[in-house]
Amino acid sequence: MDSLQKKEIQGLDYESIRKIYGGKSKIYDAIFKRIFYPRIKHAIASMDIRRGENVLDVGVGTGLSLSFFPSYCDVTGIDLSSEMLVQARKKVDEMGVDNIKLMEMDAMDLKFSDDTFDKVFISHVVTVVPDPYKMMDEIRRVCKNRGRVVIINHFKSKNKMVGKMEKIITPLSKKVGWRSDLDLDEFIDKSCLRVDRKYKLKKLDLWHVIFAINEK
Ligand SMILES: C[S@@+](CC[C@H](N)C(=O)[O-])C[C@H]1O[C@@H](n2cnc3c(N)ncnc32)[C@H](O)[C@@H]1O
Repeated sequence: MDSLQKKEIQGLDYESIRKIYGGKSKIYDAIFKRIFYPRIKHAIASMDIRRGENVLDVGVGTGLSLSFFPSYCDVTGIDLSSEMLVQARKKVDEMGVDNIKLMEMDAMDLKFSDDTFDKVFISHVVTVVPDPYKMMDEIRRVCKNRGRVVIINHFKSKNKMVGKMEKIITPLSKKVGWRSDLDLDEFIDKSCLRVDRKYKLKKLDLWHVIFAINEK
């Protein structure tokens, strides 16, 4: 990872992201597992992963998603934080499977050839990376034409009052590793994805589940 430049875009930079998630790695599951599991389980079950397909999990973190991928596909999980990956590695070892690879890598500079993956899963990462559009460009490049891209993320609320609150707390949320003011429609538009489904699992849920097709 020496080649990574220290960059700062939209207030989140590599070193602070590494520091924040490195520091959180051992307590991440205790805080987020119960909250994130239902959406992750639902989204992966709805990805229609076929036998032998290549799946990329971008920002795999501690590997909360890993037990939900079928054993008949090949999964590559990448993350910027080596500490988060240590936790993910423990899960893979406990599962005793050989279809999951974990790699330390920047989502905005993926070291894969064009058209490597059939499906890409991006869970709670879009508003964490310094530049979500650069990441999406890379994802579109490494995902095959008409491949499936599935995103779970929080976006700015359409409710004006809540939206204003989110904007106000953005500097604070950046300190804990994410931004809260990204607009969903703008994100979809700028990411050049053809979205075929987007919804919340519950009416008052904070997170969207988005199913898109990669059209090259
Ligand atoms: C909120 S966690 C989500 C982890 C997991 N996907 C989940 O849903 O539990 C965000 C993850 O994104 C990773 N991350 C942040 N910036 C990244 C980047 N540029 N490249 C790869 N991973 C990154 C962090 O290290 C962290 O593990």
